[in-house]
Order: sequence, then C-alpha cells, then structure tokens
Amino acid sequence: MKKKYEMKVLSVEFIAKETIEMELYQPEVSKQTVPGQFLHLLVSGFTLRRPISIAKVDPQAGTVTILFKIVGDGTKALAAYQPGMTINVLGPNGNGFSIDDVKDGERVLLVGGGIGVPPIYHFAKRLSEKNVDLIAVLGFQSKDYVFYEEAFKEIAETYVVTNDGSYGYQGFVTHVFPEVGAFDQYFSCGPLPMLRAVTTELKDSKGKVSLEERMGCGVGACMACVLPTVDNSYKKICSDGPVFSAQEVIL
Ligand code: FES
Repeated sequence: MKKKYEMKVLSVEFIAKETIEMELYQPEVSKQTVPGQFLHLLVSGFTLRRPISIAKVDPQAGTVTILFKIVGDGTKALAAYQPGMTINVLGPNGNGFSIDDVKDGERVLLVGGGIGVPPIYHFAKRLSEKNVDLIAVLGFQSKDYVFYEEAFKEIAETYVVTNDGSYGYQGFVTHVFPEVGAFDQYFSCGPLPMLRAVTTELKDSKGKVSLEERMGCGVGACMACVLPTVDNSYKKICSDGPVFSAQEVIL
C-alpha cells in the first residue's frame, strides 16, 4: 500500500510554453524516489489523482521537483498553486529506471519527448555519476516548448529536435539517430507514437521504454492502464511499469 503525503510547494515556475516546474518539500519522498517513478497528485477540487513526472530530487534538501504541461483544468489548477500551499501526494509510484542496468564504460542513448523529458533527465543525472557516455536526443513541438537543453548539455552529448524545425533539428527524434553513432543500450520516455517510432527504429538494440499514459487509480486496481505483452499477457503501466523492456511490450 502506497503512502500518502502532504508535500509543501516551494516554488512554481514556467520554464517553457505551458510547461511548469514545481519544487516540493517532503524529505521521505525525496529519499525514496528513483528515476522514472511518478507522483500521483490530488489537485484540490478534483476527484481523480494525476500522475506527474519527477524531474529531480535532492535528498539532502528534502526536495522533489516535478514537471508538467498545462493540458486541461486539472493541470491548470495545479499550476495555480502558490508557495506555502500543500498538495496531497501518493507515491513515489512505479518501478522506475535501474541505474544498475548500465555498466561502467557503456555508451547510452537517452531519448525524451515533451513531457517525457523530465524522467529521462532524472535518470541521466544519476547515470552521470557513473563512468558512462551519455547521448541525449530531446524532441519538442517547437522552440517555445524546449526546456532542460542546457542541463542536458552539462552531462550528455545533446541533440534537440523540433517537429516544426523552429529550433535544432527538424522532424522527429528518430531523424537524429543516424547522427549519434553506436551505443550499447537506450532508454526512452515520451508519448506513445514517439515510443512506437523509437522502438521500431531501434528494434535490434537493447532498450527500455517508460510510458506516460493517462492513468486512473495509479495503484494497480482499476485496469485503466493495461498494455499487451509479446507473450499474450498484459502489464499494468502504473504498477508493473511505467518502465518496460522494449522487447517485452506491444506498443
Ligand atoms: Fe488503475 Fe493502472 S491506473 S490499474
């Protein structure tokens, strides 16, 4: 049974178009969280919790930074929270990415799209503590939506792609793959069409994908998030994932 916490809002900031970075204080959650996990937030005035990605944690300061895009009334209400207010949070939820999957000396491709970029950043930060080479390919709609480019550049060879070509490379993340050279494995998080394209393009490579589907209960009880697997079974994104082997699930 996941625990619920009241997390205190420390800061709320627009870092790109419709994109909010929010720093929360809750030492226990900060210490427990691994990259790729998410928080299930209950926004005041709404009945359904919302899964929100974690972009950073600072266990020493007891903080967790979440990142979300304003896509509807719930996220608009969340963006209106002010420092000092508290949010009821369930989590951290999900399996997350494993640092131990990556060995010293490996060259690792990280692919993030839109609001799938924050978990990839959290993972990249942890991986950068190891002796590994990181390549990051980040996809956004257009220039106005780009965020974390400089932060990635500090730890990874970074390529930014925009769909409309208003910044960086034009097209989709897969269009940059011929440029990145050989790598040992990849990790990707983003919208389903992007993950489909990435796993198809990299079908001969070892990889893991993190799905950011809309969820219901977030704790494995409602079946709103099931995903078929290659062995004719299914997995629940919220409790079995959101991270899966690219070879294990059918996207
Ligand atoms: Fe309810 Fe996954 S969201 S089972």
